[in-house]
Amino acid sequence: MKTAITEMFGIEHPIIQGGMHYVGFAELAAAVSNAGGLGIITGLTQKTPELLAKEIARCRDMTDKPFGVNLTFLPSFTAPPYPEYIAAIKEGGVKAVETAGRSPEQYMPALKAAGIKVIHKCTSVRHSLKAEKIGCDAVSVDGFECGGHPGEDDIPNMILLPRAADELKIPFVASGGMADARSLVAALSMGAAGMNMGTRFIATKEAPVHENVKKALVAASELDTVLVMRALRNTERVLKNRGVDHLLEIEREKGASLKIADIHEQVAGVYPKVMLDGEMDAGAWSCGMVVGLIHDIPTVKELIDRIMVEAEQIIRQRLVGFLDGVEQSKTMKVA
Ligand SMILES: Cc1cc2nc3c(=O)[nH]c(=O)nc-3n(C[C@H](O)[C@H](O)[C@H](O)COP(=O)(O)O)c2cc1C
Repeated sequence: MKTAITEMFGIEHPIIQGGMHYVGFAELAAAVSNAGGLGIITGLTQKTPELLAKEIARCRDMTDKPFGVNLTFLPSFTAPPYPEYIAAIKEGGVKAVETAGRSPEQYMPALKAAGIKVIHKCTSVRHSLKAEKIGCDAVSVDGFECGGHPGEDDIPNMILLPRAADELKIPFVASGGMADARSLVAALSMGAAGMNMGTRFIATKEAPVHENVKKALVAASELDTVLVMRALRNTERVLKNRGVDHLLEIEREKGASLKIADIHEQVAGVYPKVMLDGEMDAGAWSCGMVVGLIHDIPTVKELIDRIMVEAEQIIRQRLVGFLDGVEQSKTMKVA
């Protein structure tokens, strides 16, 4: 399949793996890129620019296909040395960066001078238009369903994607709630040039996380995520667990006066406990509603191949079949 996104990033399939803290290591990024998608290393999971340079080199040893790096600009007590991270990306020869959190405006000159394609993750049309204006090459439009930070507008992708298509000139991918061939075809129908998946890629053989995490994703339903930190305007969609129950109790108690320090224990340092040690009740970690569509733990290649084969079937058989008046089964199940 050829779209503006496959052409922009030099990849075979219009599927991107979004940056994920303590998940987006070289193993996963390389597996996604080797399977024809765009794998992304999560920049800030590497505690220093030197460690990011090593992770990029490790990924390069595992794939000769293009891969990218995620740079997240989120509120933090001490800002990471972003220019040094960008230097490591440039020196590592990486040509794709996924930015997220705040606007990457101040870093655009450095990224562009290095010949890097920038795809900025946005949860609204206005942020997407801003990204276009400051010279981003593409946008990852992240609906309310998404795992991670859905912003504060709460617009799901059935509305957000066609709105983005109406307004944007640069290509965009659909992000949030994407899991299978049905997601991809729906996203393409709504004007996207591909899709970005986060949660779905965690439940794959190559995702370098504890088995408990993968099992928890297979066991969970679409009812098992919850929003936290709304009072701080730093809303995050996470998987319910005992640590999150405690966090929600504190949020209820404090109401509008909630401070980040009140929930420090439930949000700080949680990722290594969950992803490396498999402590599933440790606290808040991002997970999308799409978890309700995850029923197995395939290899990344099996997942991507399945999506592309079934997407073709949906387009050529089901959709063209409707036009040709061929009788179709009422529902569309995928493997
Ligand atoms: C465990 C986890 C960690 C994530 N960490 C980051 C991150 O560090 N930076 C970022 O930009 N997005 C992060 N995300 C968001 C993903 O890149 C992606 O936008 C999101 O998962 C898409 O929604 P989906 O989970 O429904 O596919 C994370 C998502 C998950 C599930």
